[in-house]
Amino acid sequence: MDYSIESTPLEKLQCDCLIVGIYENLQLSPSGALLDQLLKGAISQLAARGDTKGKLNEALLINWLPDMTINRVVLVGLGKQDSLTGKQYRTALAAAIKTIRDAQIKSAVCTLAELPVAQYDWRWKTRQIIEVFGDALYQFKQCKSVVENEFKTEQITVLVPDDQMTASQKGLAEGRAIADGVTLAKYLGDLPGNICTPSFLAEQAQSLGKKLSKLSVDILEEDYMQALGMGSFLSVSRGSRQPAKLIIMNYQGGEKNSKPIVLIGKGLTFDAGGISLKQSLGMDEMKYDMCGGASVIAALQAAASLQLPLNIVGLVASSENMPDGDANKPGDILTSMSGKTIEVLNTDAEGRLILCDTLTYAQRFEPEVVIDMATLTGACLVALGRVPSGLLGNDDSLCNDLLAASETSCDSLWRLPLWEEYQELLKSNFADMANIGGKDAGTITAACFLAKFAENFRWAHLDIAGTAWRTGPNKGATGRPVPLLMQYLLNRSSTLAAR
Ligand code: BES
Ligand code: MN
Ligand code: ZN
Repeated sequence: MDYSIESTPLEKLQCDCLIVGIYENLQLSPSGALLDQLLKGAISQLAARGDTKGKLNEALLINWLPDMTINRVVLVGLGKQDSLTGKQYRTALAAAIKTIRDAQIKSAVCTLAELPVAQYDWRWKTRQIIEVFGDALYQFKQCKSVVENEFKTEQITVLVPDDQMTASQKGLAEGRAIADGVTLAKYLGDLPGNICTPSFLAEQAQSLGKKLSKLSVDILEEDYMQALGMGSFLSVSRGSRQPAKLIIMNYQGGEKNSKPIVLIGKGLTFDAGGISLKQSLGMDEMKYDMCGGASVIAALQAAASLQLPLNIVGLVASSENMPDGDANKPGDILTSMSGKTIEVLNTDAEGRLILCDTLTYAQRFEPEVVIDMATLTGACLVALGRVPSGLLGNDDSLCNDLLAASETSCDSLWRLPLWEEYQELLKSNFADMANIGGKDAGTITAACFLAKFAENFRWAHLDIAGTAWRTGPNKGATGRPVPLLMQYLLNRSSTLAAR
């Protein structure tokens, strides 16, 4: 995809397709009104006869304009005529790009950054166009010999007035980096478990390390993890023929001695459940159990391509969880790298077993904060559905920063409590703790387990079980929470700049 910004006045514009807006009261967006003038009222006549109602999520393709250098128009519904919310703006953008995509239009010029949207500026509005369009134009083609309905849209131009060029230029760069990150996270997520193995993820990270400046990548192999005492992590990979990998991505964009932000991702490339085998219905979706890891890789790619002034360490704990003669058995007791012992009551609660040793490992980076993300619990889907990711953590200011970033990025989060009282549910008769907490509050007890390994730093956990992929006929990875992470990192960068 090719994204650019341009300030050509509408009268002089030549393009395949122009995107303008219309509110429910049939008031046109500024560029829409200008175009209407140039067309002697043709657009308002179409609207007056009821061809569009201006409702959100509606878009009308006008396929032919007389005597114009603009070949087509997409008239996007904007709803009630007041300032749009961020989410509504994204809904309108999505309706526009889907219409263009499905009509197989090759290039389009978008005028919608001129709309008033909440408190947002041209930088944000430009960035969102690229994010939303990039999302709609993603297509997983790698494993099909024939791609039906291949998307043909290649070029998007955002129309920007001269005095907003600098702001939009920033939005364009950020939008490209974030959209590329989301695309990478989706691609890795959508790849099947037989291709996207821990070794494959490690190679992907390594090739980014070679390509991007200030980013170095190291892979910890099983023998090294053994020497570190990662008995919990390795107990999971023992049940698989694929060797585990701990991927370390180190981006040094900040000052030499400024403490890093550590991002940890669950990179479980296939979760069969182990001896506590999952039911077969829908088990294919457990190839997505590496989406947390994919998001970490994607965020490091985006941060490095934007050359953010931060130090960021990405740790991806990658393994399969399979049933095997050597796999974890219910009742087994593991010794984690921290020395704490764990009774495995369910081998399907494996994410926390690989993450706990990774959290312990994170300590050596003397982190400013640690944020982990994992498709950790089915219970998160029960509690929150597929709208927000779950947020839990041991530090209010970190959690609030993440909530603020989720608002701005429209990549929503909802905080759940991590109270002392829940810790009891993890008691074990035989070890320091059990790996499950029974049937109640599954998302919280999973986070409680992780919290025991995150006592020495400010830490937040994102449960992305409901948000990392869509199920049903539109099954596919979403690339979340890459936009949220990037917003958090951008916010941190601008706090630094303001100091
Ligand atoms: N990867 C799963 C969580 C999951 C389940 C994500 C469904 C998305 C959809 C995780 O490893 C798991 O199996 N968790 C168990 C925990 C339970 C055994 C305490 C679960 O949620 O069932
Ligand atoms: Mn599992
Ligand atoms: Zn899992």
